[in-house]
Amino acid sequence: MSQPQKKKKKRRRYKLVWPSQNPAYLKEHPELAEKKKRKKKKRHLRYQLTWQGWVIIATAVAIALALIIPRVADDSKLKGLGYSKTSIAAIRKDKLVSTILDNKWYSEYLDQSFSDGTVNTDYLQLYTTVTSAHSDVITALDDRDFLLYSRLLDKGYTVTQAVRLFGNLHFWEITPLLVFDYQADDQAYIDDCVSHRDVNSQDHFELSGSYYTYYGNTLPVEDSSNVDMLVNKTYYLDSTYTPKDVTDLSSYYAATGRQLAGTAAEALKDWCNAGRDVGVTFYAASAYRDYDSQDTLYNNYVGSMGQSAADAASARPGFSEHQTGYAVDIAATNEDDVEEFKDTKAYTWTSTNCMDYGWILRYPEGKETITGYEFESWHYRYLGKELAQAVSASHLTYDEYYCLYLKGWDDEANKPSDEIIAANDYRTSTSDTSAAADSSASPAASASASASSKTN
Ligand code: DAL
Ligand code: ZN
Repeated sequence: MSQPQKKKKKRRRYKLVWPSQNPAYLKEHPELAEKKKRKKKKRHLRYQLTWQGWVIIATAVAIALALIIPRVADDSKLKGLGYSKTSIAAIRKDKLVSTILDNKWYSEYLDQSFSDGTVNTDYLQLYTTVTSAHSDVITALDDRDFLLYSRLLDKGYTVTQAVRLFGNLHFWEITPLLVFDYQADDQAYIDDCVSHRDVNSQDHFELSGSYYTYYGNTLPVEDSSNVDMLVNKTYYLDSTYTPKDVTDLSSYYAATGRQLAGTAAEALKDWCNAGRDVGVTFYAASAYRDYDSQDTLYNNYVGSMGQSAADAASARPGFSEHQTGYAVDIAATNEDDVEEFKDTKAYTWTSTNCMDYGWILRYPEGKETITGYEFESWHYRYLGKELAQAVSASHLTYDEYYCLYLKGWDDEANKPSDEIIAANDYRTSTSDTSAAADSSASPAASASASASSKTN
């Protein structure tokens, strides 16, 4: 029992003390005391740095959460609207998350367009009209729709109105609005169109209401030096305007003393000759008319049938295409009345083939509501081959075609992107190779094509 006690005492006596822990030693060696102090300070500093690190980490986590949580919430809202994962990624990339969420814009078509990368983000709201509920009028959007939508805005329609028109009407039911007066009550126009669906089509358009105040808001022709100028019950030529290159027409193709602008005179010759090659003869019964002759003609109509009937048959002076030098009234023979032309084989041939020689039937049957004129089977307008073919293919009147594709912009801010403009340009959408192939097809086509390239 006594031995372990002894041992214990021994250990206490000889306990090893590290010099740096020994106050007596430290007293004798102040440099060691100093070193110890420095070490302690360093340890404290290390502790302090670690604490700051934690603050940094915590802040970073907080920031990350602050960023991730709303992002996750937005993704879930987009998903809730119906968007796919791919579309959500595209919406994020285009920085359109809040625009889409704020407006709750969604349609399956918009989702699909985001996901396949075809969406045009300038027209997002328009995409929402393409739904199964509107599938009778719209099933997809193309560059022509984007142009029409932009034209509606330029005409003064609000985005809401334009979207409503697209959601309720066919393309060809909307284009007349570009020619008509601005319709504040777009719903009344929609109702009128819908109630005529049984008889209307892209080739026949009638309505009950009246939407075009003839000569109500007249404007000078935009560019009278261009063969594509629009002259109608809105756009007029100055009383002093005469075509620069009026050319006499040979009696082989026209009644005595008739004239046309040079390119149109050439094109008439080619057209007449091509007709004769297949046994069809026709002549220009009337061609260029100056302001004064139109004045006389129009007033004779007013005198004989009254103003309203005269306005449906004849243009007021300044408002006639005949003053451009690019319009012709044709008859099957030199002696015929133009009114009889629609019953001739010449009408069947000319109305079918006119575009290949640079001409269009300007006042077609069934489009009186838009042109403001009764059907004129005899009145053709020269536009050059490329444009005439594009207008014929569009099934639009020239009034609509011009206002959609060619007119200047009232407000440049409404003008679509260069890509949309280029995609809707009849000159760039027709390839040079096909023009060259057409030119070699027949001498008439060749002459017409070269006339077109001179004037366009
Ligand atoms: N008959 C057509 C419309 C004119 O007078 O110009
Ligand atoms: Zn005419």
